[in-house]
Amino acid sequence: AHSQEHLVSLLNLQIDPDRLHRRIAALAEVGAIEGGGCARLALTDADRAGRDLVCGWMRELGLAVTVDAIGNVVGVRAGRVDGPPVMTGSHIDTVRTGGRYDGNYGVLAGLEVVAALNDAGVTTEHPLAVAFFTNEEGARFAPDMMGSLVYTGVLALDEALAVQGIDGATVGGELARIGYAGPAPVPGAVPRAFVELHVEQGPVLDREGTEIGVVESVQGISWTEIDIRGTSNHAGTTPMSLRRDAGWAAGSIIAFVRELAQELGGDQVATVGRIEFFPNLVNVVPNRAVLTVDLRNTDEARLRLAEARLAAHLDALRDAEKVDIATRKLARFAPVPFAPEMTARIERHARAQGLSTRRMPSGAGHDAQMLAAVCPTAMIFVPSVDGISHNVREYTRPHHIEAGARVLLAVLGELAGA
Ligand code: GLV
Ligand code: MN
Ligand code: MN
Ligand code: MN
Repeated sequence: AHSQEHLVSLLNLQIDPDRLHRRIAALAEVGAIEGGGCARLALTDADRAGRDLVCGWMRELGLAVTVDAIGNVVGVRAGRVDGPPVMTGSHIDTVRTGGRYDGNYGVLAGLEVVAALNDAGVTTEHPLAVAFFTNEEGARFAPDMMGSLVYTGVLALDEALAVQGIDGATVGGELARIGYAGPAPVPGAVPRAFVELHVEQGPVLDREGTEIGVVESVQGISWTEIDIRGTSNHAGTTPMSLRRDAGWAAGSIIAFVRELAQELGGDQVATVGRIEFFPNLVNVVPNRAVLTVDLRNTDEARLRLAEARLAAHLDALRDAEKVDIATRKLARFAPVPFAPEMTARIERHARAQGLSTRRMPSGAGHDAQMLAAVCPTAMIFVPSVDGISHNVREYTRPHHIEAGARVLLAVLGELAGA
């Protein structure tokens, strides 16, 4: 009997690296920004143009393309039998200062797997689907991973459509405006299995010189928006002891979460990524500050501890500065373990191709963590040079881009029955 690795090579299944690199470069031109990166915030005109381009490629490759009510796009390649597809995919929205690989790579490598099957004239036993999910980034509309949350039935469609973005627009309004409020129902059909290929976005693989990350879990994520209200007053005349300074309170939160992460140690991380002052003038004590805190940990108990410590700090600030503080959870996800049989499969195929591997958790959030709730799921990582991401300098070397796509081809080929 032949192993599946042998079957894949007997079938002459091969990715075409140039075709994959060309698609990555072409998608990166949509919403291109200085330095080689992309600004395609979810449901903007740039996102629409990126969606149109990828949907066109899906149709050229012969996929049956459906768009669901939250704008997720699924392209299906028929198998010899009907039934649920083996699915791969990721997202094509970006942060405002995004690189060209985050999300896009996984979607376009999925299309390259389809192209390789087409080239070889292979029909798999089970259907194969390539998906891209709406608003994975969460930079414009929270929560992140919105499309996959709705796809898997964890977030209600109505609730998602009503979400207001940082610019005041709603998800529902913007979906309709860009023409991606589709007819396919949500929650979507449960796949047989889900595999997401992604750049690591961190330094581990690059530093170690390891080619493939076998992702065993995704760390927990806690996003909170903090709205602080104080009193505006004259910067020159108001004695320090009489201030209700929302700006100072915000600054103290920034300092606090850094110290908190250092104190908790391990892999606790903490970030204030967005802040606004009102009225934001040189000689006025701010009467309002709005900021976000992103806390992450692979250990749920430690993440809860970090949240509790932050809440206690806010209480102390209320007392000390007599400010009002309201909080709103923007996103909260517990750590997610992936299916051991899926991680073992990825590892086996990577090694069979002579690639070095390491098992690791994901520091970033991914659509795969939502799919993991409904079907066997795992992720493949490739190295990010210097661990840079959510930055136009995000870069993955071409041979790593190709290696990841080859592993994806082998894993999907086996799962779908090539
Ligand atoms: C979003 O997906 C993130 O990891 O920040
Ligand atoms: Mn991503
Ligand atoms: Mn991202
Ligand atoms: Mn992400």
